[in-house]
Amino acid sequence: MATLSAKSESLRCLEKLLAECDFSFLSQREQKHFEKRLLTHFPRLFDLLVPVYQHRYDLYYHLRSLLMELAHGFAQRSSKLKHRDKSRLAEPDWYRDETMVGMACYVDLVADDLADLTDKIDYFKQLGIRYLHLMPLYKSPEGDSDGGYAVSDYRTVDPKLGTTKQLKQLANKMADAGISLALDFVFNHTSDECDWAQQAKAGDQEHQDFYFLFDDRRLPDQYDQHLREIFPSVRRGCFSYLDDMDKWVWTTFNNFQWDLNYQNPAVFRAMVGEMLYLANLGCDILRLDALAFVWKELGHCCENHPKAHMLIQAFNCCLQIVAPGVVFKSEAIVHPDEVAKYIHPEECQLSYNPLLMALIWNSLATRKTRLLEHSLATRFEINTDCCWVNYVRCHDDIGWTFDDGNAAELGINGYDHRLFLNQFFTGHFEGSYAKGMGFQFNPENGDCRVCGSLASLCGLEQALEMQEPLLEAMALARINLIHGIIMTIGGIPLIYQGDELAILNDYSFLHDPHKTHDARWVNRPKITPQALEQVRLKNSAAYVVNQHLRQLIQWRGQYPVMGRGTTQIIRLEHPHLFAYVRQTEHGHKHYFVANFSDAKHQISGSKILPVDQLPRLDLISGQSFSASGEWQLMPYQLLWLKESNG
Ligand code: GLC
Ligand code: GLC
Repeated sequence: MATLSAKSESLRCLEKLLAECDFSFLSQREQKHFEKRLLTHFPRLFDLLVPVYQHRYDLYYHLRSLLMELAHGFAQRSSKLKHRDKSRLAEPDWYRDETMVGMACYVDLVADDLADLTDKIDYFKQLGIRYLHLMPLYKSPEGDSDGGYAVSDYRTVDPKLGTTKQLKQLANKMADAGISLALDFVFNHTSDECDWAQQAKAGDQEHQDFYFLFDDRRLPDQYDQHLREIFPSVRRGCFSYLDDMDKWVWTTFNNFQWDLNYQNPAVFRAMVGEMLYLANLGCDILRLDALAFVWKELGHCCENHPKAHMLIQAFNCCLQIVAPGVVFKSEAIVHPDEVAKYIHPEECQLSYNPLLMALIWNSLATRKTRLLEHSLATRFEINTDCCWVNYVRCHDDIGWTFDDGNAAELGINGYDHRLFLNQFFTGHFEGSYAKGMGFQFNPENGDCRVCGSLASLCGLEQALEMQEPLLEAMALARINLIHGIIMTIGGIPLIYQGDELAILNDYSFLHDPHKTHDARWVNRPKITPQALEQVRLKNSAAYVVNQHLRQLIQWRGQYPVMGRGTTQIIRLEHPHLFAYVRQTEHGHKHYFVANFSDAKHQISGSKILPVDQLPRLDLISGQSFSASGEWQLMPYQLLWLKESNG
């Protein structure tokens, strides 16, 4: 009864709103279509927003403006995109396809600009890429803009990259090539040059209420007691002093990235407008940047607050009303329990998998698979309509976000172990092959993260410096192994620009005054024509990695089990081997076994294959493996045991 009356309350509200709203800018047919969507989704939107904004006497007024915002977004959605929405609604899990492989890149690092990138679509297509995440390409401050994550205007493309028209053309051409476009929705903060921030600086109260501004340190001090510091080497605490205003402003990240105040429903409404604008450019995936931070409350750590989830669901609901073909990708680089909470068909259909990423690196460093197996055995499974985005490197640092409890169950002290991992990947641990850089060391708690390119962290840089072919072979084997894992473990593999070419660390940022303080730039290399040429040189590192990756992508696309299947982690309890099985609902299975050590290891086949099974072919080595045999795995070898009959 309770839900019935709640529903009728929302519908009564909708009825009233519809009577007051003027949608005459929509055709009769469009109006009908829009209202039908509202009837389906508004009750949920209402149920999400009322508890979040119950303190606001003017909520009704905000709901009305929100409805107008949605109607305008609907009006601006092209018929081509509406058509795409329709086909996506008929196949809502389109992103689970076995052919889905993603790549993330900066427009100006892989091309000159948007027009040039449009001419380069074929490169991605040839590689087998089906979704391309273009790093923030919006107008942002000159100099340091946190790699574009300080957005000054969503509706203006960074003039250095091109124009909105060119972005739309690119989106169209990508769609024609079967490549989905992912764009960033940076909704936790804006740059201090954004129009709203400018107006706030000029004294406009309405826009000051878009941010968290404080006259003195009293509240910031209280908040700070519970907050994590994300960039402690930029500034201690989470607030920045504004000289010209004589105020403090909430800045979780850099001083020029002002956090938005979602306690103000006008902020939600305004950001829905920006989100729909991005959706209407023709993107398929919106990456929800720093989504864990969007709800702030005194006494709370202000990450992963239940109301952050409600807001994200409310954003998703708005998307269902206007642009249901677009899905959300969660960028929650937090504790694995919390990462999981963002993953739901009505919240984020896709999510980065930072646990897999961190534990893959952990297994490479330790040559042991216990923590990987033990953690993933219970943490890999998610709602089957959703999908992991599996990656080994990205434009950011590596944070060691495993669960300390899981580590303790294996006798590992999480704190000490993180110190070891940082030492190992920055090359300070004796015998380490990795060449990474430390990032954001916090002297108070010893916390630190690591930056570096895939190839340099895997030992290629050191091997080339030492001119040791054996070390080079090991480094390449590591790269191929971990690419193999993200390609097969279940979810969308996401390759980072340059990793398909085994590109090393780029230290040129150290000479750029706008970048030198931010070690993440070590892994944001310009992909030069010379680097691309390398793949033609047989047996160059680039060639080896590139060939292997292409082959993996091609195989992946051949087997439906790699798309809409499920994963089970096999509890092998072997110190160095890691195994999993992919399975379709019809019982088709592919088995995988990975050796994370630089030595050979054996395992008896019956630990993996059921005894009554026919021998299976390993796609990668071409060898056959049977349940009754003893299997020998070479250093860093991955077995991909497909079905005998197909
Ligand atoms: C995300 C981005 C990162 C950025 C931060 C603030 O974590 O990936 O690059 O610094 O958000 O926007
Ligand atoms: C994010 C994450 C952190 C990430 C960072 C950018 O919010 O929590 O791990 O890499 O911002 O450095």
